Amino acid sequence: MGAIFELLSLEAQRRPFLLRNVLGTMRRWAPVSKFGKIVFALSAAAVDEAYGRPQDFVNGPVYAPKLKLGPMILGLDPSVAYTAQRRLLYGIVGDNQATTSRFAVLVCERARARQEAIESACEGKDVLRLDLVTDFIEPVLTGALCQLMGLEFDDAADLLTSASVTPQLPAYSASRIAPNARDVETSVATVTQWLRKLGGSFAASWPAPFGLEEVNEALAKEMKSFLEAAVPKARGDSVIGELRDRRASTDEIVRWVGGMMLAGAALFKASTIAIQELSARPAEHDLAQKHADQGEIDAVAGFVWEALRFHPLFPMVARYCPRPTRLGAVQIDADATVVLATLSAMFDPARVQNPEDFDPLRPERVYLLFGGGPHRCLAETLARVAVPEIVAHVLSAFQIEKSEVPVYDGTAVHQYEVRLKFRPAGVRHDANRTYNTVPPVLDEPREETGRTGGPSSRAHA
Ligand code: HEM
Repeated sequence: MGAIFELLSLEAQRRPFLLRNVLGTMRRWAPVSKFGKIVFALSAAAVDEAYGRPQDFVNGPVYAPKLKLGPMILGLDPSVAYTAQRRLLYGIVGDNQATTSRFAVLVCERARARQEAIESACEGKDVLRLDLVTDFIEPVLTGALCQLMGLEFDDAADLLTSASVTPQLPAYSASRIAPNARDVETSVATVTQWLRKLGGSFAASWPAPFGLEEVNEALAKEMKSFLEAAVPKARGDSVIGELRDRRASTDEIVRWVGGMMLAGAALFKASTIAIQELSARPAEHDLAQKHADQGEIDAVAGFVWEALRFHPLFPMVARYCPRPTRLGAVQIDADATVVLATLSAMFDPARVQNPEDFDPLRPERVYLLFGGGPHRCLAETLARVAVPEIVAHVLSAFQIEKSEVPVYDGTAVHQYEVRLKFRPAGVRHDANRTYNTVPPVLDEPREETGRTGGPSSRAHA
């Protein structure tokens, strides 16, 4: 049953239009729909209620078995240990202006270097085919995440430009981009594989079926020994360095940093899907591109989050009920799984005006892209700068003429082939811009803040 549900949910995630219609029909029939031990929270109110009662709708049994590097917050239920770990990591990664700015700079620098490397490797060719995931998004973000955490490879400069060789681009070879890139290229590609496979498995609603469990165990072992060796060498001004200063043990750092990196794989998919969704809407794409050309990153962000509302990374989030309880008016048995259908909630007309319209200026309370309650995304602030930056770079640098359907590896997107032209007019994005972002307030109901252009993009106080 679990495996069948898994397959259906994987398929449904790739076809959000279908899923949205099915969930919408269910919501109109009943905001909380019960099928024996599987219960769907479909309205915005029901999803909020479930997020707000973490003692009744718990994470542990859902996520703990998937955390192959060992326990961390995502698999812990409300407890002193949870609060302490969350507070520590949130202070370093989630609510830390220095970390956010550093990440923004790393993403911008890498995106620019990558764009230049692609341009020079193409030697004046005008139209090219590119796999946006493997050739642009993954190497930029993997490299930035590694450096933020403190994971340097032998030649950090090479990380900027290294990645897989694209078969469609004969002139584009690792040796041309960086003469000694081979080792670094392999390292970045290896880290990307861990993030793609293990990170992708978080998003699946059941532990991986069909032998993937063993594959995941093996990959986790590799990643663990890589991290164990890296912890003592990491730079002081990095997340690992900060954790070492706070006297976290190597074992804790490996679990926490590894867990954050795997969760960070969501950045790859968010960037890819935002570009895919915008490419499918020419009018919105062109408007977003204009904002990107003018360096208006907050405006681009509005388009990104609205694109992801139509195609969220986590359209359904699972919780487990350890004891009998109620959700709305529905009685739920002990041992039930509750599916929080965030996709359906983001199209609930009781909360969202004209939900079928694409509106990049919606109030933030509409969005549930980063979850809710105490497990709300730890690094939403990082994502809110990185994803719009990547999308803005792509929109400014390239004119996408045709795109293929993205190819999935489990829940992860691992290939998105596009045919594109360089845009000479495209803006070279500045890594030192300021961001209209403040960290989300945790454990509090979100209030309407007016038309802000994206989740939690509130004005600076
Ligand atoms: C666009 C990118 C991202 C999206 C859409 C996203 C979304 C989410 C969501 C929906 C949850 C809650 C899951 C649940 O309640 O079951 C979550 C939790 C989490 N995210 Fe993110 N995330 C993103 C990027 C990141 C990044 C870059 C990091 C770390 C560098 C990160 C670290 C975490 C962690 C550690 C948790 C668990 C928090 C806890 O359990 O207290 N995420 N994320």
